[in-house]
Amino acid sequence: MKVSFAGTAIPSQGALALGVAKGGKSGPRLGPLAESLDKKSKGALKRAIKAAERFSGDKGQSVEILAPAGTRLSRLFLLGIGKAEDFDARAAESLGGSLARRVSATGESRAAIALDAAKATKIDEVEASARIGFGARLGSYRFDRYRTKEKPDKKPSLRQLTVMTRASAGAQKRFAVLDKVADSVYLTRDLVTEPPNVLYPRTLADQAQALSKLGVKVEVLGRAKLEKLGMGSLLGVAQGSSHEPFVVVMQWNGAGNGAAPVAFIGKGVTFDSGGLSLKPSSSMEEMKFDMAGSAAVIGAMCALAARKAKVNAVGVVGLVENMPSAHAQRPGDVVKSMSGQTIEVLNTDAEGRLVLADILWYAKDRFKPAAMIDLATLTGAIIVALGHHQAGLFSNNDELAGRLAGAGEAEGERVWRMPLGDEYDKDIDSEIADMKNIGSAGKAGSIIGAQFLQRFVGDTPWAHLDIAGTAWVNKDNPTSPKGATGFGVRLLNRLIADHYEQK
Ligand code: BES
Ligand code: MN
Ligand code: ZN
Repeated sequence: MKVSFAGTAIPSQGALALGVAKGGKSGPRLGPLAESLDKKSKGALKRAIKAAERFSGDKGQSVEILAPAGTRLSRLFLLGIGKAEDFDARAAESLGGSLARRVSATGESRAAIALDAAKATKIDEVEASARIGFGARLGSYRFDRYRTKEKPDKKPSLRQLTVMTRASAGAQKRFAVLDKVADSVYLTRDLVTEPPNVLYPRTLADQAQALSKLGVKVEVLGRAKLEKLGMGSLLGVAQGSSHEPFVVVMQWNGAGNGAAPVAFIGKGVTFDSGGLSLKPSSSMEEMKFDMAGSAAVIGAMCALAARKAKVNAVGVVGLVENMPSAHAQRPGDVVKSMSGQTIEVLNTDAEGRLVLADILWYAKDRFKPAAMIDLATLTGAIIVALGHHQAGLFSNNDELAGRLAGAGEAEGERVWRMPLGDEYDKDIDSEIADMKNIGSAGKAGSIIGAQFLQRFVGDTPWAHLDIAGTAWVNKDNPTSPKGATGFGVRLLNRLIADHYEQK
């Protein structure tokens, strides 16, 4: 689906959508376009609203009028936007997303939309219009690669959405940037959705490698190199799989100086069976998504490069498959990490932290980053704590934590700060090695995972995002169909734009 911008002339045909604000006692508040259309159609709009009974202009409500009299429109949607003065970026995205999805089910290939709010909104018209287009793109995502028998009338029909605004030139310019972010979210969703027989460490590394066409410098480190570096912790996880592990390093040097980069680190377990600490089959079903952290890092690097962000950023992802086999690591094994610290692996299903331990250390050691942020589907416990609405945020640095929280709020990818502390750290002391990879069952599982990671970051300002609950959802949302959400791409892109980019 393509998005374009045009002035606010009512189109002569096709599908049209107009925002309708919630008014006071007088009921829904029509904007100027709706008023003029109502006149043209001899009151058809107001009659339809009256007939709809409960339509008040509340967010999410709508009225659909087919072939409105006095016009040649095929259909007119009146979309509730809530109180105009509360209308913000999120509301604009939802409006665009829900309209795109709705029109796509009708068979219509073109549609136009205008916010048409008479009253001032929280965001200016440029931002509102661009965000409507952005939401429409995010909401139209589909993964169709493996469908061979879909009936034509089940396929999404919308090809072209025109956002009508008095600020079309500005909106077009702003949207051009958001459109690249949407492409990057699509990339991340595709990677997370690909089945694990197709997407495994080597093929995921190939996908990261493809960012070189945007000017990202990409290095792919294979087993021999990882052995040389001493990444015994990551290699231990990979050793039960027939797939070779890879670490991919992506560098975007957009600042054009030698400034210390911001580092993004991603867990890329392309399938997590649990290893010898095998998961029950019901929990294993969804474990192709265990590389969502790495996919978010790849997507974020894609966004920065595509919009030529003036920042130095580096992405490091650890790609492995966690499988049981005669070669697999055993519960009780002791491995040596690149940092020199030894780890007693008591549960092979707590593998994400073992992968991250080595790549966090590697990134810190090699790049001396100004800030380091890891994303990982690390623990089921974070879903118990926060459900699917917010990711867990753990950090050794209040400023970084605050910036992430702010970026998440601004972009609709929210994070909630969780504690770290010595009293938790003690829980991973081991009897025979420097640490063990689990704490006591059922106690603060997400914090324990974060404490483990913290032992590999030194003094670097660092944040860990546990995205196990937010990377995949089983329910449709206006800007994210059920399945992979692409969580993290918008968050990291916004963090850079707001705090690390040269203006
Ligand atoms: N990839 C899982 C985390 C996960 C679990 C994500 C469920 C989404 C849903 C991770 O590797 C894992 O297995 N974690 C264990 C840790 C435990 C063994 C300490 C968990 O959460 O059960
Ligand atoms: Mn696991
Ligand atoms: Zn895992």
